[in-house]
Amino acid sequence: MPNNLLELFFATSKNHPEILRIAKTINELSQFISENIGNKIGFVPTMGALHQGHLSLIKAAGKSTDFVVVSLFVNPLQFNNPEDLEKYPRDLENDILLLEKSGCDLLFAPSVEEMYPENTPKIELDIKNLDSIMEGKMRKGHFDGVVQVLYRLFSVVKPDEVFFGLKDYQQCMVVKCVLKAYFPEIKLSLEPTVRETSGLAMSSRNQRLSKEGQEKAAEIFKTLSYCKSLYPLYTPQEIISRGKEMFKKSNIETEYLEIADSDNLNFPVSWEKNKNYIILAAVYIESVRLIDNLFIN
Ligand code: PAJ
Repeated sequence: MPNNLLELFFATSKNHPEILRIAKTINELSQFISENIGNKIGFVPTMGALHQGHLSLIKAAGKSTDFVVVSLFVNPLQFNNPEDLEKYPRDLENDILLLEKSGCDLLFAPSVEEMYPENTPKIELDIKNLDSIMEGKMRKGHFDGVVQVLYRLFSVVKPDEVFFGLKDYQQCMVVKCVLKAYFPEIKLSLEPTVRETSGLAMSSRNQRLSKEGQEKAAEIFKTLSYCKSLYPLYTPQEIISRGKEMFKKSNIETEYLEIADSDNLNFPVSWEKNKNYIILAAVYIESVRLIDNLFIN
């Protein structure tokens, strides 16, 4: 990773435990982790370009654990679209400055070679319907890439508790599958979506929008909130149709808009008592793909 600031921080952090520590290799990471035996380790995986959403996870981790590890790794395996990978925002210097003030104790920022050395065994995990609906359907191979990276990160960080954002709701369900299959001892905390005052869910991808694009993107939350207001007067299908209509009026291209049972992401035909529902959307604005969701009852 050719970055002078990272090199400088790395060199300095070796002799100054009071500042943010940075590990670039699994060996360095393991050494820092071994110094923390007896401490409860909290872990926040990220792909960087950090914003308040990420920082809220780090804060939550700081409240419930003793030593907070954040990983910063743009995982090539989870990008089904090479252009999306190439355009993914990267701002390591700013990320380090934010992490310094965030309550993070250790940053793990590995290279692709470090994460995936030659002959890395592939994890085969059946994530059931999660791979064939919404994010799984539209981004083929995406969740398989998420499974590979999380398996590897959890194996090396060995956290007691991991923190994920509800903004990526379907990803949270995938994380549950990974934990259930391989790391049942790790606790999972899911944190609420942090939004701009306009309602727009914070996302690293928002940086790629123009000012007008950001204003338009505020319609996503407005549309989801409108759909929520129609529950339970209309059927799930009618609500989805009205939501799509509203996106169309705002000139927003809908990739999907679905209402699902929040326990298993099955799509309901009618409302059932004692079930909780969530509405989830993926849209394109200025060729940037944005996702959001809202619990509707
Ligand atoms: P990334 O998109 O960087 O997100 C890292 C974590 O921040 C995820 O748990 C995500 O849900 C959470 N997050 C993002 N925006 C948020 C917001 N507005 N409010 C609250 N939390 C938010 O998700 C990934 O990276 C990757 O797939 C990863 C899990 C790191 C695996 O590579």
